[in-house]
Parts: sequence; structure tokens; C-alpha cells
Amino acid sequence: MQEQELIIPNHVAIILDGNGRWAKKKNMPRNYGHTQGSKAVERICEDAYKIGVKYLTVYAFSTENWKRPKEEVDAIMKLLRNYLQTSMKTAKKNNMRVRILGDKSGLSEDITKKINELEEATKNNTGLNLQVAINYGSRDEIVRAIKALSLDIKKNTIEINNIDETVMENYMDTKGIPDPDLLIRTSGEKRLSNFLLWQMAYTEFYFTDVLWPDFDKKELMKAIEYYNGRTRKFGAIY
Ligand code: FPP
Repeated sequence: MQEQELIIPNHVAIILDGNGRWAKKKNMPRNYGHTQGSKAVERICEDAYKIGVKYLTVYAFSTENWKRPKEEVDAIMKLLRNYLQTSMKTAKKNNMRVRILGDKSGLSEDITKKINELEEATKNNTGLNLQVAINYGSRDEIVRAIKALSLDIKKNTIEINNIDETVMENYMDTKGIPDPDLLIRTSGEKRLSNFLLWQMAYTEFYFTDVLWPDFDKKELMKAIEYYNGRTRKFGAIY
């Protein structure tokens, strides 16, 4: 199908997977895979926006990822610091709005500071909306949302009878962001791994064996072609 004939999903979510295996195949250390994975994120942001994607959400670091060896966690945090730093420039150039999903209180102070600065500096940008999930777990997000909601009930700012799905959405990290239309997971794994469980109730899933650092525009187009072959059924019970 020609690119111009395709329906482009408004929101694409990606579980970046396979950095470690990609590096191993090249006899390189895992952290090299993460570095290249981070570059692939930068490239896909540009490609996705050029083809008409408005929202892109990437799963960069989960609440479970802290269990990895300290050396690897430290290297990923360093990459995230660099990423946040360079995003200040690229977001300005590309008119991109960046938001971070996840429990920011669990991150080191300098990273939280960088996140706040980046979110503030890009909040009026009207190009691609990029969400980066860091220290993110969907169950953790739901628990945090329930705690915040409970506090508001206690303060009488909301009544239990008025709680509905829309109210609940206001307490999620993704407040104001439409649900993903398409989820892509690379490296052949077919799991959600605690990613956007609430938000992906009706999302189409696309799995590919390609390892994340090799994922490029061509692979993105394959995912979008797959998406075009699906019948979207909102609210249908399967
Ligand atoms: C996935 O591969 C790697 C992660 C989920 C951790 C870190 C992600 C990045 C460094 C990407 C960079 C993103 C940004 C925004 C800077 P894996 O280690 O699980 O690979 P494996 O399954 O082959 O071991």
C-alpha cells in the first residue's frame, strides 16, 4: 500500500526491547545496545512525526528494571540524563512536546529536575507529543491514581458517586493524552510487561522479531500496514 493511502494511527506506543540481544549478536557489551537503542528512539520520533503520528509513547525504564545489575542501571540512567539534555535542543528544533510517565519521586533529584525543566520548556510545543515512560509500571500508576483520588474524596473535592472512567483518567500519568491506537513490541516477546494496562483496553498489538536498535522507518511502516489491515472495533467485547 502507498504511504499516502494509509490511515496513520494518532498514538503509537512502543515497548523497546532487544537492546541486550542486539549487542550480544555483535559481541558488544549490553550498554552499547542501550546507547544505540537511545539513538533509535531519536530517529523514530522524527520518522513517526513526518508520517503523521501525533503521539508517541516509549517504554524506556520500568519499575521492574531496577532489578538489573547496578552497573547496567547506572548506565541506563546516564543515557536518560543525556537524552533529557539533548531533548531540550531537539524538542525546540522539532517543536516537540515531551512528557514523562511514571513515578518521578523514585528518580534521583537531578533527573527529576531535568524532567521538570524539559516538560515546562516544551509544554506549548505543537509538534509531536512524546511520552517517555521512566520508572513506570502500570499497576503502580493505578495505585498512585487511587491514592490521589482517595485524598480528594477525603478532602470532599469529589464524591464517590461521581467517580467514572473520565474522572479516573484525570488521575493517571496520561491525563490529557489520548489512548494508544497501536502498540509495537520489538524482539519477538509477546507480553505487555505492565505497560499502559488501563490505556490499551482497545489498542491493536503488533509484534516483530526485529531488535529495537534495528527498528527504523521501514519497520514502522510495516506496523502501520498491519494496523490498516485490522478492523477497529471500539467497545466491542471479544
Ligand atoms: C530494552 O532492551 C532495554 C530497556 C527497556 C532499557 C533501556 C532503554 C533504553 C536505553 C532506550 C533508550 C530510551 C531513551 C528514551 C533514552 P533489553 O535490555 O531488555 O534487551 P534484551 O531483552 O535483549 O536483554
